Amino acid sequence: MNIGIDKIDYYSPNQYVDLVDLAQRRNIEPDKFTIGIGQEKMALPLLSQDAVTMAAMAADKILNDIDKKDIELLIIGTESGVDESKASALYVRDLLGLPSSVRAFEIKEACYGTTAGLQMAYNFVAQNPEKSALIISSDIARYGLDTPGEVTQGAGSVAMLIKKNPSILKLENDSVFMSENVGDFWRPTYSQYAFARGKYSNEVYIRFFTELYKQYFEKNNNGIEDISALLFHIPYTKMGKKALQAVEELIPADKYADFMKRYESSTILSKNIGNLYTGSLYISLISYLENSDQVEADDKVMLFSYGSGSMGEIFTGKVQPGFKEKLQKKKHLDTLNNRRQLTVDEYETEFKKELEIKDGNYFVGNQTDDKFFLEQIKENERIYKSI
Ligand code: CAA
Repeated sequence: MNIGIDKIDYYSPNQYVDLVDLAQRRNIEPDKFTIGIGQEKMALPLLSQDAVTMAAMAADKILNDIDKKDIELLIIGTESGVDESKASALYVRDLLGLPSSVRAFEIKEACYGTTAGLQMAYNFVAQNPEKSALIISSDIARYGLDTPGEVTQGAGSVAMLIKKNPSILKLENDSVFMSENVGDFWRPTYSQYAFARGKYSNEVYIRFFTELYKQYFEKNNNGIEDISALLFHIPYTKMGKKALQAVEELIPADKYADFMKRYESSTILSKNIGNLYTGSLYISLISYLENSDQVEADDKVMLFSYGSGSMGEIFTGKVQPGFKEKLQKKKHLDTLNNRRQLTVDEYETEFKKELEIKDGNYFVGNQTDDKFFLEQIKENERIYKSI
């Protein structure tokens, strides 16, 4: 049975800071951010936007009433969940108006969570071919002001509808994966900021990729000529590029040059939004399918998923005929070009704002035009609203 991504879209907050402005404020040569790290702009959420509202915003873009009726599994991959106990998926199920017959929960393993959800969705549809699964990644990447990681922050979500006979990408069920207990990136429950050994995380990421790359071809008994593009988890766009460079000698020169060209198309959205953590691989898939003029039906793309801590997986998918009509290239570029630019002062002021909860209460209100928002904390409970 063919199973895979039938619909996919992303959401990101409508305000951003330009990283050239940020570099100047931090007395850093702007080329370090734009070339050395490979990022240009960074989205910033307001207090009324969080992992729940962003997840609902992305999913709302892809679902119609017929889709909603058939969904029986809803998984949210996030490492910026809003509650230590209750899954964000329960709030999202409610905001989207999904039936109560949905199995809804959250998965956490750094940036890998959504891939775990995607693989579960594959198995779910294999066993329940008339049903579908909604897999969402939603995250706010925060390292703190004036830290080395600051330039690699961002926020947003990606929603995917997984079904039989998918319109966009058929999953090939050919994964290789590995895990290790590694201290490259983590966020203790008492901290709203992540801790990262940035350069070490780069090394582990590349080591996982190169090992899995070899394992993939051994396990599946095929070669690189079968693959049309290599797509990566992209916390910042230099990182995927370095992983690709790490396997250069294993790839014929013209094929490698072609991979690099296609990789550039996969980075357009990430460069302008920043790190989506669990969604970073899937926004690179959207960016590639929308922005590369080389993609054709039946192309096999290889995807590398990495979550610090660490978990890695390589799998492939086959591009489906008519995939272009299911995507939103123009809309996405228009949205990116019409966002509100924040000055560095505005960015810092917004960044420092916190929910100042007194006696278990705090009123937020809707600070954007978004359909879904966190309205208030009431008796220590989050109250979401839609307009
Ligand atoms: N012009 C062009 N390039 C320049 C430059 C200039 N003027 N100045 C410096 N550069 C280059 C450097 O040569 C370097 O390039 P290479 O990496 O190719 O050598 C690059 O810019 C970065 O310079 P530094 O290494 O000196 O930068 P830094 O010390 O500030 O650290 C960073 C960069 C490690 C990415 C840091 O931003 C960081 O720690 N980020 C957070 C960690 C992170 O994102 N990890 C990602 C994996 S973890 C993950 O994805 C999370 C998950 O699972 C949840």
